[in-house]
Amino acid sequence: MSWKQAVECFCRRELEPLAAEARRVAMSVFGDAVFLRGLIEYTNYCRVNCLYCGLRRSNVDINRYRLNREIILETVMKGFEFGLRTFVLQGGEDEGFPMAELAEICRGIGEITRGEAAITLSCGIRSRKEYRMLKEAGANRFLMRFETSDARLHRYLRGGLTLARRLGALEDLLAEGYQVGSGFMVGLPGERDETIIRNVELCAQLGVDMAGVGPFIPNPQTPLAHVPQEPLEKSLFATALVRIACPETHIPATTAAGTLAADGRERMIACGANVLMPNLTPENHKKDYLLYPGKVCLRETVLKGFDDLARRTGSVNRRISFDRADGIRAGVPYQVSK
Ligand code: 5AD
Ligand code: SF4
Repeated sequence: MSWKQAVECFCRRELEPLAAEARRVAMSVFGDAVFLRGLIEYTNYCRVNCLYCGLRRSNVDINRYRLNREIILETVMKGFEFGLRTFVLQGGEDEGFPMAELAEICRGIGEITRGEAAITLSCGIRSRKEYRMLKEAGANRFLMRFETSDARLHRYLRGGLTLARRLGALEDLLAEGYQVGSGFMVGLPGERDETIIRNVELCAQLGVDMAGVGPFIPNPQTPLAHVPQEPLEKSLFATALVRIACPETHIPATTAAGTLAADGRERMIACGANVLMPNLTPENHKKDYLLYPGKVCLRETVLKGFDDLARRTGSVNRRISFDRADGIRAGVPYQVSK
């Protein structure tokens, strides 16, 4: 199916042919594997004031926390012993968490995992020098969504920060040799079909190794509390479009999709997603990392979560893989263990 035909399917709201094509493409690249990335939400402090996000600076109704080095390493170790080979350290733009400390943590992860695990960071816009220092400390990958490709909307939603600045930071990461993940939300106020199509095209243009698509879920603790919720279907269309436009890109079946519908993540896999991100954040802090309400992982404990994930992938004829699955662009071929 050509990109033009795919866009037409979306505009006519014909999900099934689009999903079938996305599944076919995903199968041809990744086979039936769904890769796991363990997520550790290490700080919920943030200097930015995005209108959509519960961690925004002005939200005084959340308990702020930072995980210390010991807890982070302990959490990684538990996941590593379980078989995970990719860890994502995600946090807000926390000025109280020195980048030098994050670098030490990357070194620590390298040591305890004997360099076998991929280290992914997701801590927002930083200087190129800081990105370099973290890379030298062992970080391999970085996640940073561009959120929306509409420059005006981006600036409005992100407390005055510009799309150009975000894209500049993504360019820095690519130039420093990171495997880069980006992506966008679906259902933001002011977004049009055209915006979604541009978002997908931007993912392709950036040549990212991973592209995350998640439904926007209005958070009552933010200025966007009263924006109506768009149905999950829109995010499913966007997922299928990303798979068709970027055949080799990793696409997570996102927590936000699982929050909107009990089978949201399976439905994303059925639209071409190939990654699941089990949440390893210590139980006592999970409830404080509330980007949006009702986050599904609050109902999943780690081990039960894994059983659940395996069942979910089974229900769409996929199987869980513990492979670290580097980005194809990184020149590392997939060697999916049978
Ligand atoms: N609904 C859905 N996703 C959200 N994010 C932040 N706030 C929300 C929300 N209310 C997403 C953003 C961010 C990622 C970590 O979480 O896309 O990049
Ligand atoms: Fe901070 Fe990221 Fe939330 Fe924006 S989306 S307020 S940068 S944590």
